[in-house]
Amino acid sequence: MHADSVTHPEVYGSERAMDTLTKRLLQEVNPAAAVETKAKVTVVGVGQVGMACAFSVLQLSIADDVTLFDTMEDKLKGEVLDLQHGSLFLKTPKIRAAKDYSETANSKLCVITAGVRQREGESRLDLVNRNVQVFKQIIPQLAQHSPSAVLLVVSNPVDILTYVAWKLSGFPRERVIGSGTNLDSARFRFLLAEKLKISPSSVHAHIIGEHGDSSVAVWSGANVAGVHLQPLHPEAKTKEDSEGWLEVHQKVVDSAYDIIKLKGYTSWAIGLSVSNLAQSILKNLRSVQPVSTLVQGLHGITEEVFLSLPCVIGSAGVCGVLKQPLREVEIQRLQHSAQTLWNIQRKLTL
Ligand SMILES: NC(=O)c1ccc[n+]([C@@H]2O[C@H](COP(=O)([O-])OP(=O)(O)OC[C@H]3O[C@@H](n4cnc5c(N)ncnc54)[C@H](O)[C@@H]3O)[C@@H](O)[C@H]2O)c1
Repeated sequence: MHADSVTHPEVYGSERAMDTLTKRLLQEVNPAAAVETKAKVTVVGVGQVGMACAFSVLQLSIADDVTLFDTMEDKLKGEVLDLQHGSLFLKTPKIRAAKDYSETANSKLCVITAGVRQREGESRLDLVNRNVQVFKQIIPQLAQHSPSAVLLVVSNPVDILTYVAWKLSGFPRERVIGSGTNLDSARFRFLLAEKLKISPSSVHAHIIGEHGDSSVAVWSGANVAGVHLQPLHPEAKTKEDSEGWLEVHQKVVDSAYDIIKLKGYTSWAIGLSVSNLAQSILKNLRSVQPVSTLVQGLHGITEEVFLSLPCVIGSAGVCGVLKQPLREVEIQRLQHSAQTLWNIQRKLTL
């Protein structure tokens, strides 16, 4: 038998009876005591994005159980074994592959990364029908086994699929979140920080709206230590933007396309952005981050759509949405995105 084909039953978390050597080594104290997991994270989809999310969550030591699920059994087993072999360097006692959804039960957070990704030149909205079918297989099962979980949708088009997950789960709006423009905002802050030669954590700026081509950069709020950038560069308003500040938003919009052209997919930054959200949820940090949430009734949006706005994120999911003052043009762009998404959503049969 090839060494790699050795089976490892522990991958699926089976509890074995204590063997003799262990009994001779250890006197068990209260072996019947229930060991309850308090911070279980399930990641559905072990592709490039799912694994980057799982790895980043593990690196933060915020979960006591990371359970992975995918329909590709061998890939799932291989990825889990590979992670388990790093257990010495981690602080997450359970890393498991789930054979079926019952093993995802009692998750505090379910991260959904399953589905097809963009091919070169394809937009996120092009993926919608294929990924809705995938979500029909996943969401009701997660909701049944972890009825109190927060669902964090990552698969694209993320805003529409967050709406789909909300409908299919029957969960309250605050417990269904899309990773949304948390990543776009990170890209924005990185690019601004590079130009300013300071750390991205010291640049405060948000991208809101659709995670995709119609996202909105809130230039009016961009600041460093409370010093707003827009008044320091009034030329940008007249389009005489010789320093290229306005191009920064376009670079954010293009960045996924650029990376997909270069390496075929994006993974590391979305993984880090998701683990940062997972930390806010599992530790109830109430940090303000732009994520996709139900925006009906906000900024004059009348449609039942999910778009990103800065939200307070805690253990209940979205605990609040910031009442961000926006310029008329920014509101119009948000409303336009809402209309575009609604035109796609209303044709879906869920
Ligand atoms: N929101 C964001 O910012 C962001 C960023 C990057 C990628 N994405 C999206 O994330 C998704 C995943 O991308 P990827 O690069 O990991 O793709 P991938 O092809 O590498 O992995 C997708 C995985 O989903 C699994 N899968 C498919 N159907 C399934 C089902 N019914 N149940 C369980 N698992 C199933 C596949 O077996 C595969 O392992 C794509 O939709 C991509 O567009 C989102």
